[in-house]
Amino acid sequence: MSQNPDVSPTSHDDGQRLSDSPSELVGLRRGAGRVARKLKRRLSALWSHADRRLSMWASGSTLGSRLYYAFWNSAFGREQQAVLRGRAQYASDLANPKETSVRLRRNCHRLEKGLLMVPRREVFAAEYIGETVDSYCTIGRHCDVEQDELSPEMQWAYDVLSKYFQVVVDTPPIAEARKKFEQAAKLVRCPPGECVPYQRDLSGEPRVSIVDLISLAKRRRSVRWFLPRPVPREMIDAAIEVAGQSPSACNRQPFQFRIFDDPELVQRVVQLPMGTAGYGHNIPVMVVLIGQQRNYFDERDRHLIYIDGSLATMGFVYALEAQGLSSCCINWPDIESREAALGELLGLSGDERAVMCLAVGYPDPEGLVAYSQKKPLGQLRRYNFE
Ligand SMILES: Cc1cc2nc3c(=O)[nH]c(=O)nc-3n(C[C@H](O)[C@H](O)[C@H](O)COP(=O)(O)O)c2cc1C
Repeated sequence: MSQNPDVSPTSHDDGQRLSDSPSELVGLRRGAGRVARKLKRRLSALWSHADRRLSMWASGSTLGSRLYYAFWNSAFGREQQAVLRGRAQYASDLANPKETSVRLRRNCHRLEKGLLMVPRREVFAAEYIGETVDSYCTIGRHCDVEQDELSPEMQWAYDVLSKYFQVVVDTPPIAEARKKFEQAAKLVRCPPGECVPYQRDLSGEPRVSIVDLISLAKRRRSVRWFLPRPVPREMIDAAIEVAGQSPSACNRQPFQFRIFDDPELVQRVVQLPMGTAGYGHNIPVMVVLIGQQRNYFDERDRHLIYIDGSLATMGFVYALEAQGLSSCCINWPDIESREAALGELLGLSGDERAVMCLAVGYPDPEGLVAYSQKKPLGQLRRYNFE
């Protein structure tokens, strides 16, 4: 005889009337689920309410905001750790420089500024010439002078230091640095080069007119639909060459373009940021722009990876466009689980942070782009106190 599961009772040892009929169980589960969801919503609303009140209070003072982020909200945790890791890495790179020395780059830049000053001072850079020569010597000790081709950075450093010592008037620290440099230069044996301040040849017109530049800027749009066509690496490299000419604070260039053009890897990278929904599957190349906090010894410079990285990205984007390629910048969200996944996939060090991602490829001529109305000139600028 078939029983209606909704009405057939089941006896249990404790005598309570509980049913194990499927629909009652489903009903019970649904009920429990509803209660749990309601509770979760309540808790979440309570949390949001408390957070709103606390954040309003905390925003009123430096101490308040410090406490808020120290004990209540850990959103800046990875950022803070990256800055500290960067400082530690900076210190360790001073003793064991790898392919580049941040201090040498920064100080050569400062020396070049001193050299091109009008009027040029007779004595300058006395407070940091010692450490600059020390960095030069440390790298010199690390290169095999018989075999290594001298890096462009070392050539630049040699030329700038040579020029500096030609023109500067000695004070005790400068004289001491001069002696050290002359000894090191005998060992490192740099041929004299021309990597010193120079006058640019401005006799002709620039090859790119403002009309061309405006037309390129107006042609560029964020493209999300691409042809299934491989992108030649030479074109990406040419775009990075343009990006590499961008200005950066003290010429440190604290970034690296990580490029993925293997289809399987591209799809793994595509999943990491949040902004690729709906079109991620058709992206031929993914770029992740990484900033390296190891370029700084102080928190005051912690934003430069984002500034310098973004300036370089703009050059990269225009250079792609000039070659018939297109791109779409993709936001990198600072969400711990995504940060951890990106760090693991790319093998990032603790001081390395994603600045943004970019989708790159040949645009599909049939794909639409957003109109993206731009702000008029009057809203984008103010002269003086207009
Ligand atoms: C830093 C940054 C993050 C962006 N993030 C995304 C994103 O996650 N997903 C997306 O589809 N577009 C993203 N975009 C593209 C913007 O939506 C686009 O630049 C903007 O709407 C203007 O359109 P246009 O680039 O065509 O002029 C981003 C752009 C920038 C500069």
